[in-house]
Amino acid sequence: MAVDAEGAGATAGAAIRISGLGRSFGAGDARIAAVRDLSLEIASGAVVALCGPSGSGKSTLLHLLAGIERPDCGQLVVDGVDLARAGRRALLDHRRRVGLVFQRFHLLPALSVLDNVLVPVVPLRVPFDKVARARQLLDAVGLAGRESATPAQLSGGQQQRVAIARALIGDPTLIVADEPTGSLDSATGVEILGLLRRVGRERSATMVVATHDRDVAESCDYVISMRDGRLTSDGAALPA
Ligand SMILES: Nc1ncnc2c1ncn2[C@@H]1O[C@H](COP(=O)(O)OP(=O)(O)OP(=O)(O)O)[C@@H](O)[C@H]1O
Ligand SMILES: [Mg+2]
Repeated sequence: MAVDAEGAGATAGAAIRISGLGRSFGAGDARIAAVRDLSLEIASGAVVALCGPSGSGKSTLLHLLAGIERPDCGQLVVDGVDLARAGRRALLDHRRRVGLVFQRFHLLPALSVLDNVLVPVVPLRVPFDKVARARQLLDAVGLAGRESATPAQLSGGQQQRVAIARALIGDPTLIVADEPTGSLDSATGVEILGLLRRVGRERSATMVVATHDRDVAESCDYVISMRDGRLTSDGAALPA
């Protein structure tokens, strides 16, 4: 299956080529093939919804794309680098270009909202403009004024918005978002996805978004579906 970019000028985002990709967990009778023999091409700048029932392998595929899981077999080429074979340095470089929204947020409870957003750029010695950028992103996700709160003081939906701002702080060329609107109502979800897209478009970022929300899926350029670790043949490409 191949997914093209919508519109012209999408040059900066990551181009993805996946072939015969496999990732299993466990051993013996308990072995589970979370992703099996999966092949897919996503053009630079495309915005793709990834749908499918619980346990179909969406998060596993996203973690492989983000470079935080390694494939057992196959090829996973992002901008010419095969993450299945990449060395440590190349993998770290890749991760630096990825904005990842985890399914379960993974905010750091002891840090303020503002510092949580800045976490990905801490190893880069937090240039001052990143603090301003973090404030701007928090404003964009509707959290202006809550910069000093800790995650425990926020609702689930507000925590999810912090996680989205954090994913965007490093100006990613690949945005990998795992049910980024799962704790939001459908209308707010579409709005927040619109924000992700707007920020992504500034760099023509490629976006892959796992979602159970039909409205969110339909607001993407394409919808692909997984079942039992594979893409289903009915994963139709939607017109933009
Ligand atoms: N670290 C792991 N160890 C063992 N099994 C795992 C691990 N991660 C995923 N799995 C298994 O792989 C399969 C796919 O899981 P995955 O989390 O990718 O599904 P999903 O489509 O994201 O589901 P959901 O919609 O519930 O988030 C499941 O059967 C799951 O139990
Ligand atoms: Mg999942």
